[in-house]
Amino acid sequence: MLAVLCVLLLSSLQSLASSSSSSSSLTYASRLSSLPSSSIYDVLKTHGLPMGLLPKGVKEFRFLESGQFEVHLNQACNAKFENELHYDQNISGMISYGQIGALSGISAQDLFLWFPVREIHVDVPSSGIIYFDVGVVSKQFSLSLFETPPDCMAVSSDNLEELVSEMVSEIKSEVLEDWIDQ
Ligand SMILES: *[C@@H]1O[C@H](CO)[C@@H](O)[C@H](O)[C@H]1NC(C)=O
Repeated sequence: MLAVLCVLLLSSLQSLASSSSSSSSLTYASRLSSLPSSSIYDVLKTHGLPMGLLPKGVKEFRFLESGQFEVHLNQACNAKFENELHYDQNISGMISYGQIGALSGISAQDLFLWFPVREIHVDVPSSGIIYFDVGVVSKQFSLSLFETPPDCMAVSSDNLEELVSEMVSEIKSEVLEDWIDQ
């Protein structure tokens, strides 16, 4: 009799445990799907790219079979990695495995200047490095910087342009001084 009770108790404990674990995975799933923008991050993931390439605050996105994508953010914004990245409100490009090409709408700051990022790619198989092609040079970062979508600080593009032109003139005068020194 006692043995039967024990078995009953055990099995009810087990069903309790399994029901609680299934309910927690349910909440997890619904939490994911309650993020309206989760699927562009999924697109990145299924193409071997880190989700943190795009910031939080995706309003809507389109992804075509050709690999062409468009992302609309709530607003233009900046996110800090090792360098700062600027995201325009609208970003577009072509995704293929391990690579985003024909990119428009993302700029990276380097030496106080903003460079439009034209291409982003990772090594396949992964070397843990991600490459940002900014036209003249390719910058390397650790992939681990881009594991999760970053918070993105709103910037007005007017401010950015002002900032850029200020910095460009600063750099120009520094470069000029260097030349004069030589
Ligand atoms: C981004 O795209 C949306 C929808 O096409 C458009 O209404 C908006 O003006 C665009 N924003 C900018 C800054 O170009």
